[in-house]
Amino acid sequence: MNFHVMTLFPEMITQGLSASILGRAQEKGFIALNAVNIRDYTLDKHKRVDDYPYGGGAGMVMAAEPVVRCCRAVMEQIAKENGGCPDTKEQKKCPRVIYLTPQGCTFTQAMAKELAQEEDLIFLCGHYEGVDERAIEMIVTDQVSIGDYVLTGGELPVMVMIDVIARLVPGVLNNKESAESETFQDYLLEYPQYTRPEVYEGLSVPEVLLSGHHAKIGEWRRQQSILRTKKVRPELLAQAVKEECLSKKEMKFYREITGDGTKEK
Ligand code: ADE
Repeated sequence: MNFHVMTLFPEMITQGLSASILGRAQEKGFIALNAVNIRDYTLDKHKRVDDYPYGGGAGMVMAAEPVVRCCRAVMEQIAKENGGCPDTKEQKKCPRVIYLTPQGCTFTQAMAKELAQEEDLIFLCGHYEGVDERAIEMIVTDQVSIGDYVLTGGELPVMVMIDVIARLVPGVLNNKESAESETFQDYLLEYPQYTRPEVYEGLSVPEVLLSGHHAKIGEWRRQQSILRTKKVRPELLAQAVKEECLSKKEMKFYREITGDGTKEK
């Protein structure tokens, strides 16, 4: 899978994603990262990419021209690599262009799962007070926020998105299971984990985990997930129940801990 990032700080992206699992995934060719400097596409003789906002107000706005030219260049590059032209709709469909902005829809694991199916994704990192709306209208397919807070630019959010999406790409994680049985799967938070030693500063590993009884361990872990989700994210647990993600036995446990009636449904 190929991630293309349009940014004014390409080195921030390449360096930020070069370590650990994503670094290895790039070396092994499971994912490719293409950070493109928007400034290379300005026609301004002083290399400016921003200007004052029409109507006044604080800050600067990223101009449409370098952003649109940059995006077209990336599209052409992708089309060339795929052996087609992005304008002649007969070839592969155009890649999605995701603009990172606090004005977007909130990024979720479900969204990541959907985006991980794409071969190419193009991201646009805004800076200053945003991007000229005409550029957004012309090139952007999705506007995404990573949460209800404002960062100085889209670089950290795009790194978050790429990290989340990339680990869903086959081959990126060593152990296929670890992407499948974890937090947000089934709307449940993950159960607690322990490793050696058995007792650390007087705190013991729960007995059941030492039992070697796989069914009991599985049941305990699901119950821990349910308890944790109830405590920290009750709205997620309600969703899990609504979507019928809990087994009959787990529903009984749920009713016990929530006092939500005592009879079987
Ligand atoms: N740019 C600035 N803040 C952001 C946020 N919360 N999500 C995505 N992009 C942003």
